[in-house]
Amino acid sequence: MSISIRICTSYEEMSELAAIELYSVVLNKPAAVLGLATGSTPIGTYEALIRLQEMHPLNLKELRTVNLDEYLGLPGDHPQSYRYFMDTNLFRSMGLSTEQTFVPNGLAENPEAEGLAYDARIDAMGGIDLQILGLGHNGHIAFNEPCEDFPKHTHPVDLQENTIQANARFFDSMDEVPRRALTMGIGSIFKARRILLLVNGAAKANILKEALEGPVTPMVPASILQLHPNVLVLCDKEAGSLLSQEA
Ligand code: F6R
Repeated sequence: MSISIRICTSYEEMSELAAIELYSVVLNKPAAVLGLATGSTPIGTYEALIRLQEMHPLNLKELRTVNLDEYLGLPGDHPQSYRYFMDTNLFRSMGLSTEQTFVPNGLAENPEAEGLAYDARIDAMGGIDLQILGLGHNGHIAFNEPCEDFPKHTHPVDLQENTIQANARFFDSMDEVPRRALTMGIGSIFKARRILLLVNGAAKANILKEALEGPVTPMVPASILQLHPNVLVLCDKEAGSLLSQEA
């Protein structure tokens, strides 16, 4: 297995290490393409990256970023949209413009076509140098929910009930939680040259073990990472508590 696993003492340590990974990519390749995620998990990473950039500024003019997913039906200025999340948690503080940061268009009239165009854009940029992933409670990565086959391309998806419930914490009422999203496919993610999976908290210990040590199956979408040649898992000790070994 080509997955490296580092169990960190705390969420803070995990976040610092993840930020250093991102920072090093850009240090070595100013025109890098970073694949980014939203959700609670990477917030500490983005805070640590902003601190690093303040202490030791890199020239970010040539950097481009691509995000994993966006809710369908939400405009980019909606406070719960992923574009808004990225603007407020990372892009503004880093001085990154909308021209260099790409998030799937949640208002696309034709989400299928938008998905294919999104993949083509990533290919045209030369592919993703480092992709950050979080892990869903049901084993999803991006919004690739458990299903019969690993989806290849960026595509529209119906969110599953447990994902809708997990997302509800950010909305005022259940009715407001979007039911659909546009997400990079497993194929789009898999093309990244390096993948960093971030996982924290005891509630994810079971699913992390299943993803890394169970069979590779689309019913646990993150299990596909076992087949990628360059994956680093950074988790805190709570999330890593059931893993049989640190590789
Ligand atoms: C976010 C994403 C999702 C989250 C996952 C974990 O862009 O694609 O797969 O990474 O749902 O979410 P948190 O970090 O909120 O537990």
